[in-house]
Amino acid sequence: MIILQGRTRSTETQAVQGKTLLELALSAKAEWGSSCQRGTCARCRCLIVQGMDQLEPVTDGEWDRLEPEELDEGYRLSCQAVVRSNDATVEVQHKPYF
Ligand code: FES
Repeated sequence: MIILQGRTRSTETQAVQGKTLLELALSAKAEWGSSCQRGTCARCRCLIVQGMDQLEPVTDGEWDRLEPEELDEGYRLSCQAVVRSNDATVEVQHKPYF
């Protein structure tokens, strides 16, 4: 289960191994901003509330785009964060800079 908290509403969708959080958000029609889909604009930045261990490790693109403190606090780029299994439970809040 992937719980996607947008600014004004929350959407739940099934976890799919190998998909990014952004791909799942878009297919679920969640309230979720994005632009480049390749880890540079950060419009898809999000905070992992629960289930970081259910995601593949931080990518080089995320290391380049996010500050170390943000990564420590649990921020990811949803276009880069890949779900590890169909059984994953991840709760995530969309947290763009603006
Ligand atoms: S959509 Fe641009 S960084 Fe994710």
